[in-house]
Amino acid sequence: MHLVFESDQALVIDNFLAASDFEQMWRWFQVAPFFPNDLRGLHGAWRLDDGRVFRGPDVYYGKIAQEVAANNEGAFAYPTGTALDLLAQTFCQASELYRRLVGSEGKEWRTMAMAPRLYERGSSLYWHRDTPSVVTGSCTYYAHPEWNIQWGGELYIAHPSALKIPASHGPSMIAPKEVIGRGQVQLSGHLDNREVNAALMEAGMGYYVMPKPNRLVVMKTGNPHMISAVKPAAGDHVRASVTMFLIRPGQEGVEGLR
Ligand SMILES: [Fe+2]
Repeated sequence: MHLVFESDQALVIDNFLAASDFEQMWRWFQVAPFFPNDLRGLHGAWRLDDGRVFRGPDVYYGKIAQEVAANNEGAFAYPTGTALDLLAQTFCQASELYRRLVGSEGKEWRTMAMAPRLYERGSSLYWHRDTPSVVTGSCTYYAHPEWNIQWGGELYIAHPSALKIPASHGPSMIAPKEVIGRGQVQLSGHLDNREVNAALMEAGMGYYVMPKPNRLVVMKTGNPHMISAVKPAAGDHVRASVTMFLIRPGQEGVEGLR
């Protein structure tokens, strides 16, 4: 485990899991069930042209994980008896390293939602941000055994000036709009991104993190981010990740961008 980068927005740890645990994570991805993410309709931050992203079983970790999993169809609670447990354990053992960015278990956050995903060639995830009142941060682990700098799939984090986009504009960074019959609605931007485009184009720059195998990225809540498309050069190599959302006490039932 080696802390290779740290800022006020994010930090990066390489060789996060022990070699044997890293291998077990990759084997788990090869046996676990994955289904197209849009099977239940377009939701969250995904846009029409974000390609085919596969979603694995959601796993909840923490004091009330059993209860949270029971309320979410198809979800499981830690311990699962799978390699995801190794990731959850290592994540919590190393919590000292990222307390400054995302707070601690039992105080700032209570439940960790683990979301395994497979990004195939051509898939991506559009600009969005976490909701600071719901999560303290999101942390992504890369489980694929190999990656190449020309395969894409990088995590883009917007310049810190984007933190000034008002909280009321929500995860998709669009001011709520009156929709007849619905009241004030937080539109997702998948059909109309003019507002968020103007907001992010203002600075028009930011940072990227390569999806390096066995790497963990910890990102503080509120930072606009996206996943760049996996390029044709990746061939049949998938970007296999587990994102861990750190949910504040009492916010477990809030529908997030997952
Ligand atoms: Fe995200």
